[in-house]
Amino acid sequence: MSHPLVIAPSILSADFSRLGEEIAAVDSAGADWIHLDVMDGHFVPNITFGPPIVKAVRGASTKFFDCHLMIEPCDPYLEAFAEAGCDMITVHAEATRHLDRSLQAIKSLGKQAGVALNPGTPETAVEYVLDRVDMVLVMTVNPGFGGQAFIPATLDKIRRLRALIGDRPIRIEVDGGIAPDTARAVFEAGADTFVAGSAVFKGGASAYAGNIAALREAAEKPAA
Ligand code: DX5
Ligand code: ZN
Repeated sequence: MSHPLVIAPSILSADFSRLGEEIAAVDSAGADWIHLDVMDGHFVPNITFGPPIVKAVRGASTKFFDCHLMIEPCDPYLEAFAEAGCDMITVHAEATRHLDRSLQAIKSLGKQAGVALNPGTPETAVEYVLDRVDMVLVMTVNPGFGGQAFIPATLDKIRRLRALIGDRPIRIEVDGGIAPDTARAVFEAGADTFVAGSAVFKGGASAYAGNIAALREAAEKPAA
């Protein structure tokens, strides 16, 4: 069962001195979701922001806040991110000892639940929690930074994951190095939710609509 294509700009590549304005700009430019990359300097070698910032920018857009927690542990912070205004909370399978319990906790907060897989983690790591999730996030770069090169080996994982999901209504999100030159391949492999940071936030706010449209067109147009 496939879902309509979603483009979710990652604010990691936005101008952090004007985060609210940047979110409003990509909202107006056609973003379907807003992807928020939370990093703790422990699970990943970078630090970004926490619930207070999410709460501060919540009013900048009514679009779906897709919150990617690259933090360990994650369980102690789920409620704070839910209260801050996240609509989807995605935890890493590698960042919790009791993944099924973490996902149940997100659902009990009334939020959509996602599980993320690093490039080195096989899709079988989520096989027994698929009935708990709304989305599986397949990292197509190693987490921590924007602007990295897409890892082609992840295409086969996306295909296998789509087969594992079968006809369950679960999205597959791809995250990292997603741009017009990689969009069609991940779409054909079975991804329907595209995170893009540098491919969207380039060229200034006047370019955002064209950048988003180029991604959507590249995904949906069969290769010549
Ligand atoms: C990386 C983040 C990604 C990143 C994507 O750890 O999870 O969302 O911001 O950036 P690009 O699209 O530039 O690879
Ligand atoms: Zn992300």
